[in-house]
Amino acid sequence: RHQWRGIIEEYRDRLPVGADTTPVTLREGGTPLVPARVLSDLTGCDVHLKVEGANPTGSFKDRGMTMAITKAKEDGAQAVICASTGNTSASAAAYAVRAGMVCAVLVPQGKIALGKMGQALVHGAKILQVEGNFDDCLTLARGLSEKYPVALVNSVNPVRIEGQKTAAFEIVDMLGDAPDIHVLPVGNAGNITAYWKGYGEYAGQGGPASKTPRMWGYQAAGAAPIVRGEAVKDPSTIATAIRIGNPASWTLAEQARDESGGFIDAVTDRQILRAYRLLAAQEGVFVEPASAASVAGLIQASEQGTLDPGQRVVCTVTGNGLKDPDWAVAGAPQPVTVPVDADAAAERLGLA
Ligand code: F0G
Repeated sequence: RHQWRGIIEEYRDRLPVGADTTPVTLREGGTPLVPARVLSDLTGCDVHLKVEGANPTGSFKDRGMTMAITKAKEDGAQAVICASTGNTSASAAAYAVRAGMVCAVLVPQGKIALGKMGQALVHGAKILQVEGNFDDCLTLARGLSEKYPVALVNSVNPVRIEGQKTAAFEIVDMLGDAPDIHVLPVGNAGNITAYWKGYGEYAGQGGPASKTPRMWGYQAAGAAPIVRGEAVKDPSTIATAIRIGNPASWTLAEQARDESGGFIDAVTDRQILRAYRLLAAQEGVFVEPASAASVAGLIQASEQGTLDPGQRVVCTVTGNGLKDPDWAVAGAPQPVTVPVDADAAAERLGLA
């Protein structure tokens, strides 16, 4: 038996790597595509979840990071840097360890989930909390990479997009063709760009797909620059991963939207939390709040009548719920305490 080898080995012929490139890998990718029965019933569609929280560091970023760090190492870089709302930094920190490189991360002060901070710390990254938001962090990271010997591994680095496009390949490989609609959260807009590239390549270039899906992207209402058509100076949402006011891949996201016949819309934090709870309580899939934006969007489209029944839909859920468990605990009833006594426990469980 063979285990999944990571995206570079699995899709080497479709990635910009040489025959002798040695991947820096944690065997990312190969994530579950899970049929979503409750969402399918709710929408009248055939809905699947691409569970990217099952990647080694708990988010889709690992697909791009194996490529970015592999390339940086090949180019002789000794240090990498990124701006992050948390997941990119967690991923960069882990892959830098594999490559024996120094990793510097810039995060918005007080605005990243504790689990993600813990990951960057335990992997030994050099962390700077910036007095500003993600957009400020990215400006700073770009400036540093231009002036100092440190490779930028944000998704403005095109090899990140190359790695992330493999999620679209996996979906087509599993379903036998592209879905009708692909739904995903949009923050810095790298991932929607990557999926669109992947679907396009798999529908041409001798790939197995007969078509490409419509791309539906969702931003958080308080951080929805693409929907509003202008940068948001002080973005705000509980979904800290997508708290971004001026996405780097803005134009490319619009291109994915327009070329695919899709759209980019917004969902409120309330809708995000409702989808977050539905996913956990009814589908058994625990995601972080930003990831639930895709499902919140799908539910909204269904309720608004913009989603025709009978279609095959894939929602990417981008990150693992354990990264940001505050929202799972908040508002939930406190567990009751019982003595070591079967009758008392049975009574509390409603079994007696
Ligand atoms: N979902 C999660 C869990 C994310 O961490 C991100 C982005 C997105 C969705 C949006 O993806 O930026 O490609 O449009 N997180 C970045 C980070 C910004 O720093 O970890 P995108």
